[in-house]
Amino acid sequence: MNELLEIKNLSVEYHTDAGVVHAVNGLNFKIDKHETHGLVGETGAGKTTTALSIMQLIPDPPGEITSGEILLEGKDLMKVPESEMYKIRGNKISMIFQDPMTSLNPVMTVGQQIEEVISLHQEVSKDDLRKKAIEMLEVVGIRKERIDDYPHQFSGGMKQRVVIAMALACNPSLIIADEPTTALDVTIQAQVLALIKDLKEKYDTSMILITHDLGVVAETCDKVSVCYGGTIVEHASVKDLFETPYHPYTKALFSAIPKIDEDVERLETLSVTLPDFSKIKPEYREVSPGHFVAFPLTLEEEGDDHE
Ligand SMILES: Nc1ncnc2c1ncn2[C@@H]1O[C@H](COP(=O)(O)OP(=O)(O)O)[C@@H](O)[C@H]1O
Ligand SMILES: [Mg+2]
Repeated sequence: MNELLEIKNLSVEYHTDAGVVHAVNGLNFKIDKHETHGLVGETGAGKTTTALSIMQLIPDPPGEITSGEILLEGKDLMKVPESEMYKIRGNKISMIFQDPMTSLNPVMTVGQQIEEVISLHQEVSKDDLRKKAIEMLEVVGIRKERIDDYPHQFSGGMKQRVVIAMALACNPSLIIADEPTTALDVTIQAQVLALIKDLKEKYDTSMILITHDLGVVAETCDKVSVCYGGTIVEHASVKDLFETPYHPYTKALFSAIPKIDEDVERLETLSVTLPDFSKIKPEYREVSPGHFVAFPLTLEEEGDDHE
C-alpha cells in the first residue's frame, strides 16, 4: 500500500463567545508515501486546524472535532487513546510550527531537547543519545560546539533548524510543516526551505507543507490541495495546477501574487464569492486525470437561494 494518510470528511468547530466558528468543513485529503503535498490557502482557511487534527492536538475547549476519520496506514487516529497517540507524535508524525518557540523550551539546552525527543521513543544509552543529538545538529547545519547553548542564543533561522532536527530525530513517516519559514527573514527563508527539501529527500519522509505562498509550493511540492473555507476546492499535481488552474479561487490566488514588473492586483481575490462549505457539501469532479475540483464553483452558479 502506497497510501500513508487519508482524511475523510473532517469537520472541526471552535466554540467562542461570539458563536461557533466552522473552521474545517467535511475536508478530504490524501497523501502517499514519499510525497510532498502542499496545503495552500489564505489565513483562516483551516490549514492549521487540519494539521492539529492529524496530531490530535486540537485545543478542547474551545475546539471540537465533530466528524471525520484520520487514517494513518489504515488506523483511525481519532480512535487512538492519548497514551498511544503520545508515541505516534514525534515518532511517526512530527510537526514543525511557524514559530520555533512553540516547540522549544527556553530553559533547556538544544542538546537536551533533541535528546529528550529521542529518548521518548527509543532505548538509547546516555552516550549514544549525545552522539545522536550532535549528529542531528550537524544534519541541519549547526556546529556541534553549540549543543549546550540555549534557544535564546540562536537566531530565528537557527532555532527553526533545531526544531527541524527534533522533528527528524526519530525518522518519522510524515512531517507536517506549518508555514515553517513565514516567521523568518526573507534571506533565511530560502535557506531553511532548501534544507527542509533536502532532508525530506534524504530521510525519505512524506511531508504536508502548509503555506499561503504558491511560490513555495512550486519549488517544493509534488501535489497541491487548495484550501478555502475549511474544505479543499481544488486538488492536482503541482504541474497541472500551475499550468491549468480550474477553480476561480485558485485563479484568484495566482493573480494575487505580486508581479515585480506590474502594479499589484489584489482585488481579484475579493471578487470570488464561494459557497459556505459549512452549509453546502461540495461535489468533486475530476476535470482531467488526478485533477479534482469542488462544485459548485461559486455562489452565483448555485443561484441566490443559498445566501
Ligand atoms: N483556538 C481557536 N479558537 C477560536 N477560533 C479559532 C481557534 N483557532 C482557529 N480558529 C478559527 O478557525 C478558523 C481557521 O483557522 P486556522 O485553522 O488557524 O486557519 P489557517 O491556518 O488556514 O490560517 C479561523 O476562522 C480561526 O479564527
Ligand atoms: Mg495557520
